[in-house]
Amino acid sequence: MVTIRTDCNLPIPAVKALWDKISWAQGRDLETIALALSNSALVVHAWDGQRLIGTARVLTDGAYYATLWDVIVDPEFQAQGIGTQLLEASVAPFIHRGFSFIALFAAEGKEDFYKKHGFAIHPRGMKLSEPL
Ligand SMILES: CC(C)(COP(=O)(O)OP(=O)(O)OC[C@H]1O[C@@H](n2cnc3c(N)ncnc32)[C@H](O)[C@@H]1OP(=O)(O)O)[C@@H](O)C(=O)NCCC(=O)NCCS
Repeated sequence: MVTIRTDCNLPIPAVKALWDKISWAQGRDLETIALALSNSALVVHAWDGQRLIGTARVLTDGAYYATLWDVIVDPEFQAQGIGTQLLEASVAPFIHRGFSFIALFAAEGKEDFYKKHGFAIHPRGMKLSEPL
């Protein structure tokens, strides 16, 4: 049975093992993963028994902006509704609370997953690609 949790009891090596399965999240070290999680306002995680099978996390100022990062489901468990549960649990504390932006960058090819859940492409989203 899959459970969705938001507690702080999340073993960093298990997060690394999961993220290393996804090309764009590969190779992050334990120390920076721990730092990133501890600085996240909300970390949602999915478990199949004792096995970590999904994550999503939210950065926010608590008033106007919330952004979602590292929405990841173990490839062995994809297409079973787990990504949807992670997304819903990530957004739930922020929706209908006056936030101006609840936003994310979709990984290539994942845009339609987010569109199914109410996200729309923002035509002026921008990202700094080189240091100033
Ligand atoms: C994207 C991801 C989180 C989706 O998780 P998932 O558990 O497989 O998704 P779900 O089973 O909840 O799918 C929900 C719906 O979205 C659809 N969907 C899932 N991935 C999709 C995709 N890449 N393109 C279009 N639709 C997609 C499913 O078909 C399903 O549709 P349905 O409700 O009509 O049956 C998962 O594929 C993943 O972890 N991918 C690798 C990491 C990644 O790139 N994450 C995105 C970061 S921005």
